[in-house]
Amino acid sequence: MSTTLSKISSEKSIELEEKYGAHNYHPLPVVLAKGEGVNVWDAEGKHYYDFLSAYSAVNQGHCHPKIVKALIDQASTLGLTSRAFYNNVLGEFEQYITSYFGFDKVLPMNSGAEAVETAIKLARKWAYEIKGVKENEAKIIVCENNFHGRTTTVISFSNDPVARKNFGPYTPGFIKIPYNDVDALAEALKDENVAGFLVEPIQGEAGVYVPDEGYLAKCNDMCKAKNVLFIADEVQTGVARTGKLLAVNYDNVTPDILILGKAVSGGVYPVSAVLANDEIMNVIKPGEHGSTFGGNPTAAKVSMAALEVIKDENLAENAKVLGDLFRLEMNRIIESSDLVNGVRGKGLLNAVLINDTEESSTAWDICVALKDNGLLAKPTHGNIIRFAPPLVITKEQLMECVAIIEKTLTAFKK
Ligand SMILES: Cc1ncc(COP(=O)(O)O)c(C=O)c1O
Repeated sequence: MSTTLSKISSEKSIELEEKYGAHNYHPLPVVLAKGEGVNVWDAEGKHYYDFLSAYSAVNQGHCHPKIVKALIDQASTLGLTSRAFYNNVLGEFEQYITSYFGFDKVLPMNSGAEAVETAIKLARKWAYEIKGVKENEAKIIVCENNFHGRTTTVISFSNDPVARKNFGPYTPGFIKIPYNDVDALAEALKDENVAGFLVEPIQGEAGVYVPDEGYLAKCNDMCKAKNVLFIADEVQTGVARTGKLLAVNYDNVTPDILILGKAVSGGVYPVSAVLANDEIMNVIKPGEHGSTFGGNPTAAKVSMAALEVIKDENLAENAKVLGDLFRLEMNRIIESSDLVNGVRGKGLLNAVLINDTEESSTAWDICVALKDNGLLAKPTHGNIIRFAPPLVITKEQLMECVAIIEKTLTAFKK
């Protein structure tokens, strides 16, 4: 029996969003009112398994008590100082996160897109001041079908027409090459003005494209040989999501610049971070970059707690083991289904490919049917459904979810 969890009904909440909010998203028709671990409940009290994790921000599970406690304790002691003054938490956080990921320094921001912007600025400045590129000539290599956020510069090097149309003029200075193509990188690296290569270790938003084994290691070596910074955007793949702390760990790569966001705070507070060693990070001087909220004491405490949970609860290992099981189960279902024709991913970042055209509404319709059966997921592009539950999911819960997916696909009629 479900109990109502909200004074406002789901129907009313949707109506209010439609009327008073910008229509910049197309959500699945479900209104969430409560979350705990892998579980969420809608306003009427119906239970669902969350298989999106707020786009991999909630790796530690909804409302993790340790992270929420850090938030409450710090927010009721000293919430925000701005960086006009020192505060007694930021330094401790900086030491913690740099030793956690193995870098000399960190620059804290708030959103993933801001962290990407930070990395771009850092790479450009490094190119002018250390590499010796002529001012305003620096270029950054990016990959086709990338997703790095929504700011004006970031969409300037996107090739998604929906993200770009009528938002120009665009920021220059980017070279786009195909993903998972080392020859294209070799060609682009011939340009002496290249400052960095910005890449997602797995292209999440594009549909969970996993590159060939060794691709990242080769790219990293090629960048080193040309004195070009290897910049890994691990906003979605980082913090244990793919079964290792970082997805680049699979290739034993240490990027020159590491970009983190989302799960770095367990979804409790917006925190992002750019990590690099001194020779790169020291090009940034006072007044040249920052954010009022970046590095605030609440963010710092929340992030330390969130990163502790990842280690204390062995979430990378859990993501690896249960991710392997999930793909095994999906492949079993695929064998007897002509509705799905593939599964790919690493750890608990996976996508199932629906056997229909990119323009069809089948993937969306399946997500609606999954919702009705108690599991929340969303299509990424057209006919691809991403499955990314919180990493605290247990084997029993995962198998229950596999049963929901199997039941939904078996009963689904186009
Ligand atoms: C790889 C990657 N980079 C950057 C971003 C942008 O992060 P945010 O939405 O916090 O700006 C995302 C968001 O999905 C992402 O997946």
